[in-house]
Amino acid sequence: MSLKGKVALVTGGSRGIGRAVCLGLAEAGATVGINYVSNESAALETLGAVQDAGGKGFTIGFDVAETTSVQDAIKKIQSEEGVIEILVNNAGITRDGLMARMKDADWDDVLNTNLKGAFTCSKAVMRGMMKKRWGRIINITSVIGFLGNAGQVNYAAAKAGLVGLTKSMARELAVRNVTVNCVAPGYIVTDMTRDLSEEIQEMIKAQIPLATLGTPEDVASATVYLASKGSGYITGQTLHVNGGMYMGN
Ligand SMILES: NC(=O)c1ccc[n+]([C@@H]2O[C@H](COP(=O)([O-])OP(=O)(O)OC[C@H]3O[C@@H](n4cnc5c(N)ncnc54)[C@H](OP(=O)(O)O)[C@@H]3O)[C@@H](O)[C@H]2O)c1
Repeated sequence: MSLKGKVALVTGGSRGIGRAVCLGLAEAGATVGINYVSNESAALETLGAVQDAGGKGFTIGFDVAETTSVQDAIKKIQSEEGVIEILVNNAGITRDGLMARMKDADWDDVLNTNLKGAFTCSKAVMRGMMKKRWGRIINITSVIGFLGNAGQVNYAAAKAGLVGLTKSMARELAVRNVTVNCVAPGYIVTDMTRDLSEEIQEMIKAQIPLATLGTPEDVASATVYLASKGSGYITGQTLHVNGGMYMGN
């Protein structure tokens, strides 16, 4: 599993799943770029945890939905740290509401962050990976992209879109030994899900064979595996991390 000498970038690495992914990659030996959009102090906390674990990293603020900011940030990282060989497109937001009342801005924000952000970041790193003839891109989608969810047409469309993006990129980049895969978490305890009422949480647990919500670390270990050298013959796939609540593909 050693990722020693590799530079990784995790979008939305400041909190939740992204933070656990940063720790996992750093523990495997990678130097980890911890991206955030507004919460610098959370990103610094992640960096502190990485360093406490004996790992190496740095923080880098940019909005994945802003193409120029992404390009500038990735250029800066690559000139200071070296070619990014592992990219985890994890940054994500929700703007929930029933479709009849959903504002265009809520659709656009979710699509621009969750789907276009992954396109833009991937496009900015792929040239370096192709030159190195080694790379790993992991897109964090969601069980909602497979099941759909009332109140989340924007989020479900963005997450399902990531699966198509992943499969197409996998076909384009395979010739240069760059793999592209998805991790699809189910319900994971983070800031994104913390506000769900006790009642909703119980309803969700009733649909999960393992009968519990997941942890960021559950998602991180699947992500680190897909980043590792040992996953080299896996591309265009989705690894579901959901306690069994969805078993299709
Ligand atoms: N939690 C779940 O149950 C669950 C389930 C399935 C899939 N997911 C997916 O897993 C990913 C992480 O979710 P989470 O629950 O860990 O979320 P979270 O705790 O809400 O954290 C979101 C992260 O994304 C960053 N972010 C948001 N907008 C951004 C932007 N425009 N540019 C750069 N960074 C941005 C945030 O940065 P700041 O700290 O600066 O705000 C933060 O680091 C998301 O893609 C989410 O859709 C989560």
